[in-house]
Amino acid sequence: MIRSWTDTQKGYGWISIALHWASALAIVLVYALGEWGPEMLGGTRPAAIALHAGIATYSFLVFFPRIAWRVAHTGPLFTIKQPAFVAWAAPLVQFVMLSSIVALFVTGPLAVFFAGKPIDLFLFAIPSPVEANRAVRSVLGDLHEWAVNAMLVSVLMHIGGAAFHAMRGHWGIVKRMIIAVPAQKKRPPQRRPS
Ligand code: HEM
Repeated sequence: MIRSWTDTQKGYGWISIALHWASALAIVLVYALGEWGPEMLGGTRPAAIALHAGIATYSFLVFFPRIAWRVAHTGPLFTIKQPAFVAWAAPLVQFVMLSSIVALFVTGPLAVFFAGKPIDLFLFAIPSPVEANRAVRSVLGDLHEWAVNAMLVSVLMHIGGAAFHAMRGHWGIVKRMIIAVPAQKKRPPQRRPS
C-alpha cells in the first residue's frame, strides 16, 4: 500500500511523522546536555553549556521546519468521541509546547550574547552582536529556565495524553504518529458533458 507524504483528514503523512520524532530526539539530547552536561561528558559547566548552545542551534534545523509545517497544516481530524476537557486541553498543550520551544530559541542565544560570548557552531562561530551585560544575561538565563519548565510540563502532558488514549484502547490515535496514512487515490479526470 502506498502511504502519503503529506497529512490528510484521516492521519499524518511521513513528513509530519519524521519531523515529530526528529524533534523529540533533539529535545531529549539538548535538554540532557543543558541539565546534565558535566555529569554526562565531564568537564566544566560553561564548557557543557557552550556545547549545549551549539547543538541546540543546529537542532533549529529540525524545529523550524517542524513548527512551520504544523502552522501550515492543521493535521488530521479527531475521529473519536472524547471528554470535553481533552478537546480544549490537547491543542492548548500543543500550543504551550511549540511556543516554549520558540522562547528557548530566543532566550538561549540572547543569554550567550549578553554574556559577551560567541555561539560556537564547531565549524565557525557567531560573534555576539551586543555588549556584555550581566544583569540582562541573568534575566535571560531565568527566562530560559522558565521556558525549559513550561516545555517539560507540556511535553509530559503530551506524553500523558498519548498514554491516556492507549489505555482507553484508542490505538489508532497513537498509531497515526508511527505509520503514515494511506495515500489518497487520484481521481481520473472527469469528462465534461459535451
Ligand atoms: C530545545 C531547545 C533547548 C532546550 C530544551 C534547552 C534546555 C536547557 C536546559 C535544561 C538548561 C539548564 C537549565 C538549568 O537548570 O540551569 C539550559 C541552559 C542554557 N541554555 Fe538551553 N535549551 C535549549 C536551547 C538553547 C539555545 C538555542 C541556546 C543558545 C544558542 C541555549 C543556551 C543556554 C544557556 C546559555 C544556558 C545557561 C543558562 C544559565 O545558566 O543561566 N539553549 N538549556
